Amino acid sequence: MTAHQILALCGSLGARSSNAAALDVIEDVLASHDDITVTRWGSVAAIPIFDPSAAEPSAIADQWLSAAGSCDALVVAAPEYAGSLAGGVKNALDWLVGSAGLYGKPVAIVSCGTTGGRFAREELHRTLTWQGAFVVTALGVSAPRTKTDADGRFADAATIDELDRVAQQLYASLSMTPDERGTLAASTRRGILAEQIVGPTAV
Ligand SMILES: Cc1cc2nc3c(=O)[nH]c(=O)nc-3n(C[C@H](O)[C@H](O)[C@H](O)COP(=O)(O)O)c2cc1C
Repeated sequence: MTAHQILALCGSLGARSSNAAALDVIEDVLASHDDITVTRWGSVAAIPIFDPSAAEPSAIADQWLSAAGSCDALVVAAPEYAGSLAGGVKNALDWLVGSAGLYGKPVAIVSCGTTGGRFAREELHRTLTWQGAFVVTALGVSAPRTKTDADGRFADAATIDELDRVAQQLYASLSMTPDERGTLAASTRRGILAEQIVGPTAV
């Protein structure tokens, strides 16, 4: 049995973050497979602002490059702020461009937030694809505070099922060919773009 390392990245620093809660569910599902080890990246805020002219990346940037480069798959859960992907996640991904650390790897993306984060997912899909990754599954969770319990854990059965589906699809993608991952990535993108735009840009 091949062991797979999955890296999880949360784009929110918020207390009782719904994106962190989504990762909790996804990580539990993934970890139920004997051949999976999941590691959550500590804090997106620890990653310095990308500097292409730095002679050497700082120790923490180096750790991030190493974590992303050595994983077999990535799962990102990030909020949308002001109609765009949370900046810390974009910054973390910018570090990886020159390393090709995500090239060919499957990625799952989730955005929990008021509208379900269509723009955040669209931007995540775009920047990850430009780095050669395959976004094989995506989920937007709207109004997450109505779907969590007093401790901030997801309690809504339909949402938990959807998060389970995301985890299982990422797991299944580990044994897919690049062509199969590419087909899934194209259909994931079509699914995101087909969603109704919610917010000021809808007018
Ligand atoms: C400054 C700010 C801007 C926001 N902009 C958006 C937005 O454009 N679209 C959206 O769906 N939610 C937006 N939200 C709501 C967040 O997505 C929501 O608070 C989300 O739950 C944050 O993620 P977390 O629960 O993981 O911390 C915004 C929240 C803040 C504080």
